[in-house]
Amino acid sequence: MQQTIKQEMINLIKERRSITFFDPSKEVPLEILEEVVNLASTAPSSYNLQPWKIIIVKSKAQKSILKEICMNQQKVEDASANIIVLANTRGGIENVDKVLDSWIELGYITPDQKDSTKQSIINSWSNPEKAKNNAIRDSSLFAMNIMICSRIFGLETHPIGGFNEQKLREYLNIPDHLIPIMIIAIGYKDNSKQLLPRAYRFKFHEITKVI
Ligand SMILES: Cc1cc2nc3c(=O)[nH]c(=O)nc-3n(C[C@H](O)[C@H](O)[C@H](O)COP(=O)(O)O)c2cc1C
Repeated sequence: MQQTIKQEMINLIKERRSITFFDPSKEVPLEILEEVVNLASTAPSSYNLQPWKIIIVKSKAQKSILKEICMNQQKVEDASANIIVLANTRGGIENVDKVLDSWIELGYITPDQKDSTKQSIINSWSNPEKAKNNAIRDSSLFAMNIMICSRIFGLETHPIGGFNEQKLREYLNIPDHLIPIMIIAIGYKDNSKQLLPRAYRFKFHEITKVI
């Protein structure tokens, strides 16, 4: 890989921060959010089942309601939009046909392999604990990808877990099978303000066992 590209990619990852200060005057057009989300959708997922949904809260009035649900975190209102990432615990069962049909079309499997593959997916997703684990794991990778992809478009993000789940469910009419795993505030950084330096990260030797 060319050194400059490598360095740019390192910076893309390294300079991602949870941005507390968004410029409230700068709007992100919906088309850009669409591009970010479509790029982030290339995230891997078990069997490629993509068990996620999102709700985008973008208008000023709705952001103000969401801010209250998020313990009054100001960044929710200042960000151009907030992407609520929902882990779909029915995702495997809802998406299995579309995914396997695309596999057949692309030659991953032959048509006669569909039924057995579908059955093992349905077996896994019929177990509530497995369905929940699958959905949360895959949606979290998708969420991380949203944060990385945003930076390619000059945008910054802030993941938020500090929200009242019950209030969020009531406000957006979120059914039980969708689990709000995090809210991603997204927008342009207010460059007049400075974040504190990045906090300590555990190093390879502190987290790794090699066998
Ligand atoms: C799932 C998740 C939920 C978070 N929720 C909040 C939150 O509600 N409020 C907040 O200020 N920061 C929240 N954070 C941000 C973390 O505090 C932040 O990522 C961490 O301190 C590291 O900082 P950095 O992202 O700038 O490297 C959350 C992060 C994650 C991944």
